[in-house]
Amino acid sequence: MAGTAELIIEGKSYQYPTIEGSEGEKAIDIAKLRDETGYITIDSGYKNTGATKSGITFLDGEEGILRYRGYSIEDLADKASFLEVAYLLIYGELPTTEQYAKFENDIRRHTIVNEDMRRIFNGFPVNSHPMGVMSSLISAMSGFYPDSYDDKAPDRTELHIIRLLAKFPTLATWCYKKSNGHPINYPKNSLDYCSNFLHMMFSLPVENYEVNPVISKALNKLLILHADHEQNCSTSTVRLVGSSKANLYSSISAGISALWGPLHGGANQEVIEMLDEIVADGGDVEKYVLKAKDKSSGFRLFGFGHRVYKNFDPRARIIKKAADDILETLGINDPTLEVAKKLEEVALTDEYFIARKLYPNVDFYSGIIYRALGIPTNMFTVMFALGRLPGWIAQWKEMRAAKEPIGRPRQIYTGATLREFVPIEKR
Ligand code: CMC
Repeated sequence: MAGTAELIIEGKSYQYPTIEGSEGEKAIDIAKLRDETGYITIDSGYKNTGATKSGITFLDGEEGILRYRGYSIEDLADKASFLEVAYLLIYGELPTTEQYAKFENDIRRHTIVNEDMRRIFNGFPVNSHPMGVMSSLISAMSGFYPDSYDDKAPDRTELHIIRLLAKFPTLATWCYKKSNGHPINYPKNSLDYCSNFLHMMFSLPVENYEVNPVISKALNKLLILHADHEQNCSTSTVRLVGSSKANLYSSISAGISALWGPLHGGANQEVIEMLDEIVADGGDVEKYVLKAKDKSSGFRLFGFGHRVYKNFDPRARIIKKAADDILETLGINDPTLEVAKKLEEVALTDEYFIARKLYPNVDFYSGIIYRALGIPTNMFTVMFALGRLPGWIAQWKEMRAAKEPIGRPRQIYTGATLREFVPIEKR
């Protein structure tokens, strides 16, 4: 329901329209604020700033609700395939059988990567972090598809979308293979998306590799849970970079870089390293909870807290249950799962965590599953990126279709006022 908000500044009243989303979220449209009053709003970290209107993902942090295009995350994680969800996010509706067959087939036909990309890839040192490599390789793809940044070329966005979805898994597995000193595998297009990824990761030329359906199903679920999360740091980065009309590959490359940070997607690697440390240290979780509460320690409980979820993270609930099921089915006894559960129990009853509404987030249990699937720690954030790819693409596409203006925040300047230049010999 449209309304009006009254703002009184220096005794003068101003009216600004309010807007309401389809789920009742409310905002004040302050687009004319500076022109009319000379004031801007300031909101470090954008804690209270809506950057866009979006029809892709709905999230209610108080109620722990997450929906893609109106479908609950619980339903999608249980019933859909990752590519169905990718289609839903990018094109707005679940695909029909024919649409799905075409989408899947298009992706299968683009899984091979230009061999010249290997020359770029081979230049990276063997111990390069795969997130840095992925960000570079995805950006490099624009060089192989120059129509992606040529304004005069026919619009091939749909093809670039397919290429990204198809080639990202191939490139990701290169990183893993190189770190092991193993030859890379070419894609096997008879396999479905998740199975093909597992084949490229784990198959060796010297023996047969059969994709374990339990692992493929678990991977499918994890990718769906990560597929979009509205205007988070990496997604906002993708939209912001894309708003300057930068091409899709560069925009996604920037998103990968933003995701790498330990406060964002990089937390999944930090979590497992923290859990390993606690296990190695005798499993005393109280000690680590105390350390996290001590601000002078500089230590945070990775996998805890979220900017938006202030009750529970619905993805964490699904992942916790999946971690139990998968470890049991695969017959794996990982002490980090027990330590993670103990840590959660202690933290959730602690006044510090209760007062600050800090709960396990999506990254808390995901690493335990990745490890059970055989994926090494330094690849965890790449797995997050693989899952988030359709969300980034959908958000970039929505931003372009809406012809959003270039993103350009303002600031309040706090530096020196005008001073006279002093020649170097007099300083
Ligand atoms: N351990 C200990 N204290 C914490 C933690 C934590 N994990 N998270 C927040 N706090 C404290 C923080 O010190 C602050 O305390 P005080 O009010 O006394 O200064 C208060 O809680 C609010 O924290 P904040 O940093 O202002 O909150 P934020 O909304 O800016 O940050 C967050 C959200 C996710 C960056 C933060 O909770 C965090 O650093 N968590 C650990 C990293 C992590 O797990 N990140 C993954 C997020 S989920 C996946 C994704 O979307 O990428």
